[in-house]
Amino acid sequence: MDEGTGVVIASNRGPVSFVKGPDGFSTTRGAGGLAGALDPVARQLGHDAVWISATTSDDDRDALHAGLCDGLERELGYAVYMLDIDKETYKKYYDTVSNRMLWFANHCLWDELGIDGFGEEEIAAWDAAYEQVNRRFAAAVSEVASPGGLVLFQDYHLYTAPGHLRSIRPDQVIFHFTHSSFCSVEGLDRLPKPLPKRVIEGMLGADLLGFHVAQWVHGFLDCAERIGARVDRARGRVDHGDRTTWVREYPIQVDAGFLRQRSRQVHATEWANRFLDRTRKGPLLVRADRSEPSKNIVRGFEAFGMLLDRRPDIAKDARFVACVYPSRQSMPEYQRYTRSIKEAVASVVARHPGSIELFMEDDFDRTLGALRVYDVLLVNPIMDGMNLVAKEGPIVNERDGLLVLSTGAGSFEEMGDASIQIEDPLDVTATAAALERALDMEADERSKRAEALRRSAQAREPAWWIDTQLADLEAIAAGDEPLTPPC
Ligand code: F6P
Repeated sequence: MDEGTGVVIASNRGPVSFVKGPDGFSTTRGAGGLAGALDPVARQLGHDAVWISATTSDDDRDALHAGLCDGLERELGYAVYMLDIDKETYKKYYDTVSNRMLWFANHCLWDELGIDGFGEEEIAAWDAAYEQVNRRFAAAVSEVASPGGLVLFQDYHLYTAPGHLRSIRPDQVIFHFTHSSFCSVEGLDRLPKPLPKRVIEGMLGADLLGFHVAQWVHGFLDCAERIGARVDRARGRVDHGDRTTWVREYPIQVDAGFLRQRSRQVHATEWANRFLDRTRKGPLLVRADRSEPSKNIVRGFEAFGMLLDRRPDIAKDARFVACVYPSRQSMPEYQRYTRSIKEAVASVVARHPGSIELFMEDDFDRTLGALRVYDVLLVNPIMDGMNLVAKEGPIVNERDGLLVLSTGAGSFEEMGDASIQIEDPLDVTATAAALERALDMEADERSKRAEALRRSAQAREPAWWIDTQLADLEAIAAGDEPLTPPC
C-alpha cells in the first residue's frame, strides 16, 4: 500500500464486484446508490484516493487471490484494496449482524418481521465477526491514510470502525455516513445489551456523522442521549468522553444527465415501447425496488388489488409493472419476503388477470424503460434512508407521471410536497386511496405536479452531496464548526 493517501473511502461493497464466467472474471458495478455517489469523487482524486472494501462473494475472494484487484486502478483511475474476509466470518458480519440486527434496527422492522429477541448466536457473531471485520477495516485505513487526510467510512456495516480507528489514530479526521434510515431508540434498543451502546460509541469515534435527512439525524441524537452523551441539538453536536462529534444531513442526489441519456438509449427505449404497447388503453403503474421488507412491496400490491376490486373502470385497463430484484437471499427473512411478494401478486392476478407484470431480475435498462412511461410511480417504504427511485423516476419520466410517496422515505423531505402522500405506509386502505387519487387526477394538475417533481429531483448537482461533506470536514480539521447548518 502507498504511504499517505489524501482520501480513504471504506465500505462493505466496493465500487465493483467480480463475477466469474466461462471466459474468466468480469466486473460489475457495486449495487445501490453508494458506489454511484462515491466513484466519481474517487476518480476525480485519482492517485490521491484509495477505496477499501470487503470481498463479498467467492468470486471476489478468487479474483483477489488471482491478483485481479491490482488491475482495478487502471480500470477505475484509483486504487481499490479488498480485504480478504473468509466466507464464515463474512456471513456472520454481513447476514447476522449487519443485515439481521443493524438493518432491522435502523428500519424498526422488529414487529413487521415478528422478531422479539436475539440469542447467543447473534451476540457471538458481534464479537467474532462484526467487530473483527470493523477492526480490520480500521487497521487497513490506518495503513494508507496520511495524518492530514480524510477518512470516509460508509454505512451500518462499519459502525464501530470509526471508534477503532480513533484509538489507533487519535488525530485523524474521520467521517461516517449512514446510507439507510436511523430509526431511533425504538429500533436500536431492541438489540441485546451492550450492543446499542457499542454502536453509538463506535460512531462517535468520528468527527462528523452524516445521514440523508433530518429525521435520521434526530433518530441518532435520541440514541446518543440515551447512552449518556451530551447532545446539543441546536448545534448538531454530541460530546462524549473527551470527544466532540458533529451530526449533519446530506441528502444524496442523482445524476439527471446520465439517467436521461441512458434512458433514451436503445435497450431502455425498447422496454419503454414494450410497456407502452401493453398499456395502450389504460394507465401504467410502476415500482422499482430491491426485494426488501422495508420497501413494503407486499402492501403495495394489496393496495393495488383492493383498488381494482372496487373500481371496475380502472381494473379494466390499468397495468402494474414491478421491477423487484432479489437481494440478501442467503437470509431466511429475505427468502420469505420474496415468496410473499410472489403470493401477493398471484392473489391480485387471480382476480384481475394480466394486471401485474412482475420482473424479478435486476435489469437497469428495463427499469429505466418503465420509469420513462409510468403514469403513477409507487414508492411506499415503511422506512428508507433516501429512496433514489423517487427522484430518478420524475427525471426520466415523459408522461407527466405522478409520484405516490410514503412519509417513511427519506426522499419525502425533498419530494413530498409535489407527491401524493401516504401518511401511514402500513395502511393498505390509505395506500389504495392514494393510488386512486393519482389515477383520477386531471391532466392540468398532473402536469403541474410532474413539473414540480422534476424540479425538486434535480435541485442540486450530484457533486453537492460529497462536496458539502468535504468542505465540512476541512472546516473541522481547521478547528471550526461544519459549514452546513444543523437540522
Ligand atoms: O444502505 C443501504 C445499502 O447498503 C445501499 O448501499 C444499497 O442500496 C443497499 O443497501 C444494498 O444492500 P446490499 O449491499 O446488502 O446488497
